[in-house]
Amino acid sequence: MTSTELRQSFLSFFEQHGHRVVTSSSLVPADDPTLLFTNAGMNQFKDVFLGRDRRDYRRAATSQKCMRVSGKHNDLENVGPSLRHHTFFEMLGNFSFGDYFKEEAIRLAWELLTGVWKLPADRLFATVFAGDEGVPRDDEAYGYWLRVLPAARIAELGKEDNFWSMGDTGPCGRCSEIHYFRGEHLPCAEPVCRGVACSCDRYVEVWNNVFMEFDRQADKRLVPLPAPSIDTGMGLERITAIMQNTLSNYDTDLFQPLLQTISRLAGRQYGGTMGPADVSSRVIADHARAMTFLIADGVLPSNEWRGYVLRK
Ligand code: GLY
Repeated sequence: MTSTELRQSFLSFFEQHGHRVVTSSSLVPADDPTLLFTNAGMNQFKDVFLGRDRRDYRRAATSQKCMRVSGKHNDLENVGPSLRHHTFFEMLGNFSFGDYFKEEAIRLAWELLTGVWKLPADRLFATVFAGDEGVPRDDEAYGYWLRVLPAARIAELGKEDNFWSMGDTGPCGRCSEIHYFRGEHLPCAEPVCRGVACSCDRYVEVWNNVFMEFDRQADKRLVPLPAPSIDTGMGLERITAIMQNTLSNYDTDLFQPLLQTISRLAGRQYGGTMGPADVSSRVIADHARAMTFLIADGVLPSNEWRGYVLRK
């Protein structure tokens, strides 16, 4: 499938399951001084989760333009050396505002990945929150995963991996990630690979299902949201790499035209290696996309705030 077909397939699947397909919001957050750039699909629904805004739908699906270059979610330093990180990327997401919760979110994710996209079930792993800082282990999500996965393929991790927050304040909750196993043949720098908790290329995080339950206050207290809700995020670039069977996001149809142009202009063929010239080519490809989408959303190079990030 092409990346365009995948994006459409995701949105159509959720539309068929009663979700309103909502257009991506701008990379410049509409009315949120806590955010430099839109960093997740849920940003445009923040006030809906908090009960301050209402929509005429309770289920939504989006393909959201995101930038992760600052604050809690910052991938800038990974761009170039990594084959699967970007500053700008598209996040596919489905949302429930007080409608379905964990059971249905897990069921829908599993159906799309294995039923529609036909990913081999024996290559999929899940993670659930192990319990931390007064928030208990996610017994419920663990139980739902046990319906489709053996216990050996469900990992229990702490708050770094399995508690998602948009920023220092605002909606947050325990989460459950889905990872795809690419194979033992890939290198791992650890003495013993830590599986889904490892940062090597053997396991790639595909999809994060966030069970939104709290509004974190400035004093760190977790206040329950008006209704338990769902917020999910799946990077289009990563799922495209998996579906197109490429190790690198940069080898998919989303990046190859850019890298071919960079190769032509540089007079040197991009080779997909960890060498400095290929790392630089990935940085140029990533930053060219980011700059283009920032300028399209009205940001201009300047000496301050958003414009300074673009200028750099
Ligand atoms: N909002 C879910 C995620 O960014 O992973």
